[in-house]
Amino acid sequence: MSFLSETLSRVKPSPTIAMTAKAAELRAAGRDVIGLSAGEPDFDTPQNIKDAAVAAIAAGKTKYTAPDGIPELKQAVCAKMKRDHGLDYTPAQVSVGTGGKQTLYNALMATLNEGDEVVIPAPYWVSYPDMVLLAGGTPVIAETSIQSNFKLTAGQLEAAITPKTKWFIFNSPSNPTGAGYSRDELKALTEVLMRHPHVWVMTDDMYEHLAYDGFEFCTPAQVEPALYDRTLTCNGVSKAYAMTGWRIGYAAGPEPLIAAMRKVQSQSTSNPCSVSQWAAVEALNGTQEFLAPNNEMFVRRRDLVVSMLNEIDGISCPVPEGAFYVYPSIAGLIGKTTPAGKVIGTDEDFATALLEEADVAVVFGAAFGLSPNFRVSYATSDAALETACSRIQAFCAALT
Ligand SMILES: Cc1ncc(COP(=O)(O)O)c(C=O)c1O
Repeated sequence: MSFLSETLSRVKPSPTIAMTAKAAELRAAGRDVIGLSAGEPDFDTPQNIKDAAVAAIAAGKTKYTAPDGIPELKQAVCAKMKRDHGLDYTPAQVSVGTGGKQTLYNALMATLNEGDEVVIPAPYWVSYPDMVLLAGGTPVIAETSIQSNFKLTAGQLEAAITPKTKWFIFNSPSNPTGAGYSRDELKALTEVLMRHPHVWVMTDDMYEHLAYDGFEFCTPAQVEPALYDRTLTCNGVSKAYAMTGWRIGYAAGPEPLIAAMRKVQSQSTSNPCSVSQWAAVEALNGTQEFLAPNNEMFVRRRDLVVSMLNEIDGISCPVPEGAFYVYPSIAGLIGKTTPAGKVIGTDEDFATALLEEADVAVVFGAAFGLSPNFRVSYATSDAALETACSRIQAFCAALT
């Protein structure tokens, strides 16, 4: 019998972390690798948030807290849900965890039994299927296509639902495509969910504030209030507030579910870092002024990357509504050969050759469940993006 658990054998390590590690290895060997694989903003946490953390340390707020968050942060989440979405929640309906990732994981651990299905649109954030597997459930992948700008249609959602479906995981704007669902597109999905009262919605709103060109962000419980009693709205401070290292995420939903998530958390990590929680209070309650200039910068970078990639024969790159990713198709490059003699049979071959022969690190589409594509994170400087895209152009032009 194996020493390691059978559950773990069904789970794969994160391919995004693997790609970033490979790039770091080449860099350590002296190569000038440009990394477009990391999913975090390249700017610093705003000063008012850092100051709040320093003040918390000085005030001795350095002890254990309630397992799923200090009252002040739960209150700040309630105020945020009301202010931004018109949704009413009490602190007992809020759970704070160690990053958005732990909040999602707690919810799956608290609810899934063997045989329970979770519908996940592809391309998906790499962790969803593996978290479902770790929690003992079965991921059911609903593939989208580039033709619908990677958005799930009502028909595709309907087809994926069975009597065993427990959750539908929804992520807009999306990692890895940046696609954001308009109110009407989301309404089409909530109408399907209204016909299936046994299906709950886990919405991952992590990229809510990173939305461009006047895109109006909507969350499912806001678009269809009748779903309020079976929706867990998940969010966090990692991306919009450049706080990936602080590890604070949160969720709002029905009280019994929140209580079950608290039980999971109390027996695993006890509570999220006390100092980070005070920083998150400031992130949510403090000035939001830096969001608009940051978004202007992201739009400029997105437009630069999309236009340079679309100049390449064999690559097609839609313009996404938000986040800081693009997800171009390389359908026109499959079967070609690199100058080093490697045949590009898959998007993984493409990403590997791009790293080895052109010193640009991206993540291949198979990692996100839809091929042949690759993900570019444009959360890096304009100069690095321009050089990286020029290298991709030269690499593709040299394919035969
Ligand atoms: C869609 C999505 N959800 C959740 C997370 C996790 O966020 P956190 O760093 O707060 O755990 C990420 C991070 O990459 C993400 O892209």
